[in-house]
Amino acid sequence: MEVEKVFHMKKGVGHTSYARNSLLQRAVTIQAGPVIEESVREVYNTLKPECLMMADMGCSSGPNALLVVSRIIDVTDEASRSINRQCPQFGVFLNDLPGNDFNTLFNLIPNFNQNLQEAKGSHFGPCFVSGIPKSFYGRVFPDNFLHFVHSSYSIHWLSQVPRELVSENGEALNKGNIYITKISPPEIHTAYYAQFERDFTLFLRSRSREMVSGGGMVMVLIGSINSDEPDTMLELLGSTLQDMVLEDVIEQEKLDKFNMPFYAPTVEEVRKLVEAEGSFALNKLEAFTIDWSVDTSQNFETRAKFVAKTIRAVTEPSLETTFSPAIMDDLFLLFEIRVKERIARKKGEYLNIVLSVTKKE
Ligand SMILES: C[S@@+](CC[C@H](N)C(=O)[O-])C[C@H]1O[C@@H](n2cnc3c(N)ncnc32)[C@H](O)[C@@H]1O
Repeated sequence: MEVEKVFHMKKGVGHTSYARNSLLQRAVTIQAGPVIEESVREVYNTLKPECLMMADMGCSSGPNALLVVSRIIDVTDEASRSINRQCPQFGVFLNDLPGNDFNTLFNLIPNFNQNLQEAKGSHFGPCFVSGIPKSFYGRVFPDNFLHFVHSSYSIHWLSQVPRELVSENGEALNKGNIYITKISPPEIHTAYYAQFERDFTLFLRSRSREMVSGGGMVMVLIGSINSDEPDTMLELLGSTLQDMVLEDVIEQEKLDKFNMPFYAPTVEEVRKLVEAEGSFALNKLEAFTIDWSVDTSQNFETRAKFVAKTIRAVTEPSLETTFSPAIMDDLFLLFEIRVKERIARKKGEYLNIVLSVTKKE
């Protein structure tokens, strides 16, 4: 899979789109809110920029990016009022891969601007929003440009499927699975971790050039307790695909060669890589869990439906690089049944890692 060219969430605003099925990511952002707010306040009070330059890396096509931006603006506005300063102007850069459905996001901007004007009046901004279609694994902005960077649920996506998952003679090594599973041989985990190490280090190095000293960055990503023994959603999706192989709907060879460009690190792996890269002081590194279905008061059927829709909105475009679009309805119906069985038996949760860092002098 050529990730930079083909990777994106489900486009548009239809019933399977990311824009309509990103409530899990929204709930995660809300839970990480206090860490974001603390970092923004610190950045504003230290740097007091006339124009606060901020970027959301991996903004996608739903409303979540603008939710974060409005919170950042609110916190900055409050901080500037508390010291009797004029609220700064804002440069907001919404970044994602070129295949992202920026138009769906851009359609939300007039309302966003109008709400800001109504809420803040003449004291406010203005706020200049633009879209930046480029991989965040590499340089996206000029030197010393950004005061604040946010990224949520994006940097667990790798720049590529680890090449080591295919042997030199072209043999697939992660047969029957699409990610690390409990029974994967150690080489599979090693290959995934090595790719994450390269990517995450490049992400940090690129942002460190682009951020001013004293600038803040908050990152939220899916993590794992033991990264070589995950009990993940992708394991469940992989076994659902394997069921479809057994029903002759999917060719075994296609499944054997397909892998997700994803890695859920442990907190310690993240800490080690931030320290090794060296450009950032680590202010906070925390983990919290969220139920796969967010709202556990619903019955298992409703929750399984929610989970299947969330996962479909994220994974369907990638799956369609290898498997026929015609099987997607059946795949996710079967997946929903598997999720329902699983959550009735055992709680399913994502572990989320939140880290807040400051660019060193
Ligand atoms: C699950 S969405 C999260 C979107 C949003 N931050 C939210 O919380 O709803 C992950 C986003 O990261 C983007 N992404 C993945 N790899 C990327 C890369 N290398 N450069 C820029 N964006 C990337 C994907 O295209 C996708 O839109």
